Amino acid sequence: MTKPAMRVAVTGAAGQIGYALLFRIASGEMLGKDQPVILQLLEIPDEKAQNALKGVMMELDDCAFPLLQSMSAHSDPKEAFKDADVALLVGSRPRGPGMERKDLLTVNAQIFTVQGKALNEAASRDVRVLVVGNPANTNAYIAMKSAPDLKPENFTAMLRLDHNRALSQLAAKLGRPVAEIQKLAVWGNHSPTMYPDYRFATIGGQSVAKIINDDAWNRDVFIPTVGKRGAAIIEARGLSSAASAANAAIDHIRDWVMGTDGKWVTMGVPSDGSYSIPEGIMYGVPVTCEGGKYHRVTGLEIDEFSRERMDLTLKELLEERDGVADLLK
Ligand code: NAI
Repeated sequence: MTKPAMRVAVTGAAGQIGYALLFRIASGEMLGKDQPVILQLLEIPDEKAQNALKGVMMELDDCAFPLLQSMSAHSDPKEAFKDADVALLVGSRPRGPGMERKDLLTVNAQIFTVQGKALNEAASRDVRVLVVGNPANTNAYIAMKSAPDLKPENFTAMLRLDHNRALSQLAAKLGRPVAEIQKLAVWGNHSPTMYPDYRFATIGGQSVAKIINDDAWNRDVFIPTVGKRGAAIIEARGLSSAASAANAAIDHIRDWVMGTDGKWVTMGVPSDGSYSIPEGIMYGVPVTCEGGKYHRVTGLEIDEFSRERMDLTLKELLEERDGVADLLK
């Protein structure tokens, strides 16, 4: 018997990540090859953006995806989020010329306040929200705070691209396939301050840290390479990462919905106070997923070096939170 369709809302649907994302959702890569989907696409009211969205939808039509039951274009978030089971918040305002970080936070805070309220009003009570648009953790925090009738655990921020980047750097260092590496963690903010942590990672049952056995490589090569990967891609491609970001969004939602079989992945989730991260802060932590829910990996030992790194990325998140506090009153 055919399953009932799931409603997937995507914002910023005519952008570059949207273009790399929608076709994969419609083909069943995110929710399963037997799961029909309805796409509810949001773009800004601007005529150029709405026209571009129409063009993307024409292409989606032309793929004749058997699982794509229907799709609609919107400029009102309440309509786009109506009964949504999954909401991918990709659209945000990029930093313009001369724009300070504070201005960027403020314009995005406005977007994510409106979208959080719209989710609160219109989405399914079990909606799974993934914020991709930067600053992703703080935008997710704002959306969560603007949606008091939804459970905080419905809101997550995307750290999966950082997780995947770290996995691939480790695989290259070890000369082994990515798929063999388990128990990697990335802590904190999706920004260059994040802390990719392979102290618990294993490969073929052996400790990755013991095999590498090189603290200087960790500190001076691995952590900065993962942290600055986004900038390196802009430098090389002239455009920011889109296909890998879309891929990470697919991985994040697929694992959340379908489970990870005990495998660790990284999600930005509201803190429960563990690891001395203040409650509610949207912070990247290692999780496993089962039964449609994520579960924090608990009880990991935090050494002095890790504490310093985790506090540094936390400091940035606290500053971002304080920077938007007025807007959330
Ligand atoms: P883009 O500029 O190509 O597309 C963004 C789209 O969002 C545009 O079509 C724009 O019209 C739309 N948009 C802007 N405000 C909107 C609103 N209020 N409602 C609906 N749509 C809106 O950008 P791209 O490359 O697709 O990236 C999107 C975001 O994802 C950026 O903020 C980028 O920094 C972020 N990003 C996050 C990553 C992560 O790991 N968390 C990785 C890569 C990018």
